[in-house]
Amino acid sequence: MEFPVKTGAPASQRTECAILPVFDDGQLRGATKEIDTAARGLIKQFVRAGDATGRLGSTTLIHRTQGTAATRWLLVGCGKHADFGAKRLTAALAAAVAALRGTGTKEAISYLAYSAGSSSTSKVGIEQAARMTVEVTRAQLYRFDELKSHKEPGSKLSRLGVGLPRGADLREARRGIKVGTAIANGSDLARDLGNRPPNVCTPTHLAEAARDLAKKYRKLEVKVLGEPDMRRLGMGALLGVTQGADEPARLIVVQYRGAGPKVAPIALCGKGVTFDTGGISLKPPPKMDEMKFDMCGAGGVLGAMAALGELEPPTNVVAVIPACENMPGGNATRPSDIVTTMSGQTVEILNTDAEGRLILCDAITYARQQFKPRCVVDVATLTGACVVALGHIYTGLFSNDEALAAAISAAGDRSLDLVWRLPLHEEYGDSLRSNFADFANAGTRDGGASVAANFLSRFVEGVPWAHLDIAGVAWRANSNKGATGRPVPLLVDFLLGATQQ
Ligand code: BES
Ligand code: MN
Ligand code: ZN
Repeated sequence: MEFPVKTGAPASQRTECAILPVFDDGQLRGATKEIDTAARGLIKQFVRAGDATGRLGSTTLIHRTQGTAATRWLLVGCGKHADFGAKRLTAALAAAVAALRGTGTKEAISYLAYSAGSSSTSKVGIEQAARMTVEVTRAQLYRFDELKSHKEPGSKLSRLGVGLPRGADLREARRGIKVGTAIANGSDLARDLGNRPPNVCTPTHLAEAARDLAKKYRKLEVKVLGEPDMRRLGMGALLGVTQGADEPARLIVVQYRGAGPKVAPIALCGKGVTFDTGGISLKPPPKMDEMKFDMCGAGGVLGAMAALGELEPPTNVVAVIPACENMPGGNATRPSDIVTTMSGQTVEILNTDAEGRLILCDAITYARQQFKPRCVVDVATLTGACVVALGHIYTGLFSNDEALAAAISAAGDRSLDLVWRLPLHEEYGDSLRSNFADFANAGTRDGGASVAANFLSRFVEGVPWAHLDIAGVAWRANSNKGATGRPVPLLVDFLLGATQQ
């Protein structure tokens, strides 16, 4: 899919389809107004007749485009003009692309960002608008059909112009398209890995995906550790989770080197449970299929690393991904088993379904000891409690560092990949008390997302750290079930911003 910048006058710009915004006050603005004038008020007629509305996401496809060089117009409702920002732009464009997907249109130009960055009324800058145009179009066209024997014909749309006025800052637009493309590629990878069934997307498959990235991008390097390495390192918690599974575990380490060797990296740790049955504390059958998405932390981190490989920013990042299955079996851990983590702390496994924190704690310790990172960000589908708290809109953010939390929140706002900060308080750890080990892996259900974060906090040793609980946002559970690619946009935005520190 290509995204050229188009700065020709909208009325004389040749295209199969001009995508034009209509606002709910019926007043025509920007490119819509220019085209309407050239077409002697034809668009105005559609709007007056009520055939094209400003209702956000409504679409009207028109072939009578006399006076202009476009074959079709797609009028798209954009809501109230005063509220039109990045969020509305993505909603409107998603509707436009969905409408065009079913038609024969191979090429179009979107004028939804035509007024971006221009006047005091615009809430969205050119770079962000261009970036969102790419991200939302690619997300809308994404399909996962590699395991269907009868593939529905894909969309014919292969080129979407970003229409901007003459004199617009082209460098900003091109930068937005470049970043948006890298984020879309990374999100597609995260979506593919998430959507693949667990008999395909195994820990070994995740390791292969990482190796493929290192082949593709010159600044990425991959190392994969197996169970003997984990044993040598003393990763008793990770080994405890995987011991009920026949499928071998992997610890995947991906280094991105964009800055000198003295620059301390940012460490990303992504939970890679390729299937979470709960183990001996077996989950109930309903919706257990969704636990194939329990590796979406790993997928999101790999997607972000791919984007770094593509964009080559001047920074250092290392990804540490513990990957395994959580299965019941004759050799599985039992509730009351005690394991020794790589940090030396002992943990009583009271619930084998609280496995994410067990594999992450060893990954965090490894990242800290091996790479002396300037901060650690872990990404995990960690708790059902986080879904109860925040639903499917916000990622839960926990952090021991104000500056890091602020940087991640800002990245979330810019990328529209939102996070909401949840509390870390030492008393959330009270219920992890154990009579038999240093502490337990599970405590009260109430405040469960914070209890899990408290568990992880015991392994960060004062390093600036943020924990992203993506249990509610990594996949859609509705009729259109599938991985979302979140939090790739958030992570990439955060990592690009971190280069300026
Ligand atoms: N992978 C799950 C969390 C999860 C559950 C994410 C449902 C999305 C939807 C995690 O491993 C888990 O099972 N967590 C338990 C922890 C509990 C046993 C302390 C949970 O949330 O119930
Ligand atoms: Mn679990
Ligand atoms: Zn899990």
